[in-house]
Amino acid sequence: MKKSISGFSKMSKRKKLRWIVENFFKDPENVMRELMSHWHQNEEQQRVLDGFSENTISNYVLPFGVAPNFVINDKTYVIPMVIEESSVVAAASSAAKYWMSRGGFKAKVIATKKVGQVHFSWKGDIEKLNTVFEELESQLRADVSHITANMENRGGGVLDMSLLDMTHLEKDYYQLKVNFETCDSMGANFINSVLEEFGRTLQNFVATHKIFEGKEKELSIIMAILSNYTPECLVRAWVECPVEDLGNCGEMDASTFAEKFCKAIRIAHIDPHRAATHNKGIFNGVDAVVLATANDFRAVESCGHTYAARDGQYRSLSYCSVEDGVFKFWLDLPIALGTVGGLTKLHPIARRSLELLGNPSAQELMEIIAVTGLAQNFAAIKSLTTTGIQKGHMKMHLMNILNHLNATEKEIKETVYHFTDKVVSFSAVRDFLNLLRGKPANHIEEHSETSHI
Ligand code: MEV
Repeated sequence: MKKSISGFSKMSKRKKLRWIVENFFKDPENVMRELMSHWHQNEEQQRVLDGFSENTISNYVLPFGVAPNFVINDKTYVIPMVIEESSVVAAASSAAKYWMSRGGFKAKVIATKKVGQVHFSWKGDIEKLNTVFEELESQLRADVSHITANMENRGGGVLDMSLLDMTHLEKDYYQLKVNFETCDSMGANFINSVLEEFGRTLQNFVATHKIFEGKEKELSIIMAILSNYTPECLVRAWVECPVEDLGNCGEMDASTFAEKFCKAIRIAHIDPHRAATHNKGIFNGVDAVVLATANDFRAVESCGHTYAARDGQYRSLSYCSVEDGVFKFWLDLPIALGTVGGLTKLHPIARRSLELLGNPSAQELMEIIAVTGLAQNFAAIKSLTTTGIQKGHMKMHLMNILNHLNATEKEIKETVYHFTDKVVSFSAVRDFLNLLRGKPANHIEEHSETSHI
């Protein structure tokens, strides 16, 4: 078996796939057919998808779902969600419906600043550089005018910049920190192009300015790159209603539920183990919409988690209060998004997701995504503090187990009915299915032995 290869990237897609299946799979012909069955029927669309990445051999399919009935700032949305975890879309939809009759969700963008950094090493006198900083800034701005002109026409560009002395943390280390406005684009390429140009200008500036002498003329750029931590690209989403309007939750009256709910949120502020799971629930909703609109979910995650740890301890991104008989639940989320550029219009489904949302601006999309995160969080905490999460979760999971065990439609119907009032587990479902099939209860089909379900 050949495990390494040279010139792989130059091979045709079919040849790449052939090499992979022949060297890594027991049943090459079948695997080749199977992976090729996921190629797009439309060759042009497939070329677009292949253009997103390198060494593509097939497409990896994920479910594209929708959560209707989201009322946000008095406007009704159907929210597109791409996620593989069962019950996320169902939970979002149920939270949307719950809040629809209680005034809906509200959201507001607080700020939209993006950040970039030029990190450099220098043995010069920082006071001297500060003295000529205004001159440097004009030079920096002038040298990127060919890159910024378009963005400036759209109302964005370089906002402001500052010089940071970091030598107390690392020898000879300084930073040029730059704030940007990138309007409806996420702006990563724009920011990085500007920063790289800034690096060249900065180096040239100290090399040629008469104020600097000897070693001071040598400045070394370590790197120039945007920061995915954008605490000032921030959106707040919230819901509120009189406590009694929350209604009874099973055995619990509205006021007991509100108090218990708020305590659960406070626990996620106190305990990092709980905070991680709590915020994961928020990102179930956030990431699903970020993916559906072809935004960068790694950037969104890293920013959100950094923000959650901004005071030195990792904490909940959401907050809750019960004051003067009013229940309030809100989420502050820093999130850098685009609705133009990147893959947003290139990805065939992302384009449709944006259309489904009414082609929002980046700010409106920030609001929609923060609301989806809040809705997801509300649904999770409501379940956790009332029925427990497994009840709803395992019902959804039942379908995955049944599919895994190749249940027929008739078997699915009978099993779903049987488990209406029973605890779902892989073995319980398998045993019931075996009984239906006239086999001993613990009979295990060969393919289910390795199940991780
Ligand atoms: C599961 O994907 C998400 C939850 O664990 C979130 C939470 O515990 O808050 C249910």
